[in-house]
Amino acid sequence: MRTPILLSVLATLASARVFDSLHAVPKGWRELRAARSDDAIALKIALRQSRPAALEQAVLEISTPGHPNYGMHMTRDELRAYTAPSESAVADVTAWVRRHGARYSVDNDWISVSTDVGTANQLLNTTFSWYEYEGGGGPKLRTLAYSVPDEVADHVDLVQPTTRFGQLGSQKSTIFEMTIVDESVPAQLHAHVDLSGAADAVDVACTGVVTPDCLKSLYHINYTASADGNLVAFASYLEQYARYADLQTFETNYVPQAKGQNFSVTLINGGKNDQNSAEGQR
Ligand SMILES: *[C@@H]1O[C@H](CO)[C@@H](O)[C@H](O)[C@H]1NC(C)=O
Ligand SMILES: *[C@@H]1O[C@H](CO)[C@@H](O)[C@H](O)[C@H]1NC(C)=O
Ligand SMILES: *[C@@H]1O[C@H](CO)[C@@H](O)[C@H](O)[C@H]1NC(C)=O
Repeated sequence: MRTPILLSVLATLASARVFDSLHAVPKGWRELRAARSDDAIALKIALRQSRPAALEQAVLEISTPGHPNYGMHMTRDELRAYTAPSESAVADVTAWVRRHGARYSVDNDWISVSTDVGTANQLLNTTFSWYEYEGGGGPKLRTLAYSVPDEVADHVDLVQPTTRFGQLGSQKSTIFEMTIVDESVPAQLHAHVDLSGAADAVDVACTGVVTPDCLKSLYHINYTASADGNLVAFASYLEQYARYADLQTFETNYVPQAKGQNFSVTLINGGKNDQNSAEGQR
């Protein structure tokens, strides 16, 4: 009676959890050809963050007026401490990747793996193929399902690109119609909005133009922010960058009392701060 028990234990050890599966190739995509086992592939493994509830609580406190932590924004390192995975997650998942002989690097809750399709197929018990989107964008290595071994499955949130067939692209403006505002006509810029707060007081000018005064009127905002008050952070990506000159123009035209305020830039992971990016990308 020993043998069957031993076999069932081995089967358990070798089992894997299906992480994601698609029943068909997504609309607009088609399979081009099988991948060669020596085709290069780069994967990102997202590790489960160990303190998501604490992070949510901290962010709520930072954003709640009146809370002692209101406005006490985190540094990047403080945020990374909240999103860090457990040490055992890093140890177990890197051991799994190493066993398959793939190269990898760890950056907090992400593990980047560089390997070939043959290794990736074994790692994720899958079969990568080349797929192409009808709208172009070139062939992409994807699969319709992938698994992660039971012994690391609880440490992993996802592995991509695998089953995600989306098209990454810049989100262009969704404005369909545009009227050019004559910047030499101050009435059009400042729209002489009635800030009395009366429901019907929104100036007709606000139907064609949105200015800070229009927003104040529409949302019944009745206070003047102090100059040393608040900080706002913007993420710039997809080749879109905040421009110093644009901010100065905006301040001059719409919020003269804020003139001279500026922003600073922190570059992360090879990011750029291009002040002359193509006009069409704005
Ligand atoms: C790998 O996937 C195949 C189906 O493609 C399945 O039959 C097999 O059980 C899987 N292996 C593991 C360890 O889950
Ligand atoms: C705006 O706030 C001021 C000062 O608190 C107050 O005197 C005024 O009545 C408020 N206006 C409206 C429309 O609420
Ligand atoms: C804003 O900051 C940038 C970068 O430090 C600087 O080049 C620019 O002159 C500043 N603009 C103003 C109005 O201070």
